[in-house]
Amino acid sequence: MGVDPSKVPQITLNTGDKVPCMGMGTFGSDRFTPEQVSNAVAGAIRAGYRMFDCAACYGNEDQIGEVFKAAIDEGVVERKDLYIMTKVWNDMHREVEKSARKSIADLQCDYIDLYFIHWPFPNYHAPGCDVDSRNPDSKPFSVEEFMDTYRQIEELVDKGLVRHIGISNMTIPKLEQVVDKFRIKPVACEMELHPCFQQQELFDYLRAHDIQPIGFMPLGSPQRPERDIVATDIADMQVPEFKAIAEKHGVHPAIIALKWAVQRGQIPIPFSIHEAEYVSNLNSTQTEPLTDEEMATIATLEKNNRLVKGQVFLWPGATDWHDLWDEDGVIVDCPDAK
Ligand SMILES: NC(=O)c1ccc[n+]([C@@H]2O[C@H](COP(=O)([O-])OP(=O)(O)OC[C@H]3O[C@@H](n4cnc5c(N)ncnc54)[C@H](OP(=O)(O)O)[C@@H]3O)[C@@H](O)[C@H]2O)c1
Repeated sequence: MGVDPSKVPQITLNTGDKVPCMGMGTFGSDRFTPEQVSNAVAGAIRAGYRMFDCAACYGNEDQIGEVFKAAIDEGVVERKDLYIMTKVWNDMHREVEKSARKSIADLQCDYIDLYFIHWPFPNYHAPGCDVDSRNPDSKPFSVEEFMDTYRQIEELVDKGLVRHIGISNMTIPKLEQVVDKFRIKPVACEMELHPCFQQQELFDYLRAHDIQPIGFMPLGSPQRPERDIVATDIADMQVPEFKAIAEKHGVHPAIIALKWAVQRGQIPIPFSIHEAEYVSNLNSTQTEPLTDEEMATIATLEKNNRLVKGQVFLWPGATDWHDLWDEDGVIVDCPDAK
């Protein structure tokens, strides 16, 4: 059961490297233990997944590293065939090399294929914290702070610890401030993308700059942490037009969300601890594509339904979570934007 990895369609990055059109997430959402997540990674490698989205702050890299090592030692996969992504957490922006070396040691992977700046500011919260908790040391986005963090990753590329650089949770106004300052261009931007939150403008901006969008929460993250759930959120998989397309194909709406993502051109990174789910998710790349009409219907389902609002990253003086996303086209409270 599973998919032959050589049959999974590939995406070419701006370096010319090819990566699978779908990866697997590893965030346990404060609900799944590191063992449950790493067991799923072990099963997913055997089911044909080659790209994994990890992060220092998910608290499970050492368990996942055991799984990578075992799969390589047992000859299931070679290191060069895995595309291991991880992220520097917000509390390590001044010590990126230390953080990268810890992730490499925990993941037992020798080098990181794609290293993201998880959030574009150094504001952090305690794991599993309440949505109303605030860190008084939090600050608005600063071009200088971000570029200092980015330059540390560029140095890790020079040292051979990191192959590719990624950004995450960015906005167009922030990108506009930094896009001409990179020595080594980012290959990808990880961003929230699901049928009711399509971020078309940012998606188009990234494509125009040859930066690959990687879509997190591609299924609308039904198991997301309590702090990321508000009553007005829409459940993507329950939207009637969406369910109708799934019924026509005789599949779960999750499969339609993933087909839509791949056909649109983002790389979705769905997560599940259930074998039947993660196998069927990858298998969605092997079956009948959506029609142009179905793709056009899904394009109309945009509801601007951002799920990760990011309240816990707000700085003193910020109004509310909208300030994090530069919705008026300027970076809110930025001290050094030009
Ligand atoms: N860069 C960032 O800031 C950031 C933020 C958030 C997430 N991420 C990454 O994105 C990954 C994916 O996001 P996510 O895990 O929050 O959400 P998701 O992939 O949208 O949703 C995962 C949930 O969907 C359900 N599911 C999965 N496959 C299914 C299927 N075939 N049929 C039915 N239900 C299915 C599972 O719930 P059940 O267990 O109920 O079946 C699973 O827990 C994360 O793991 C993480 O790696 C990155």
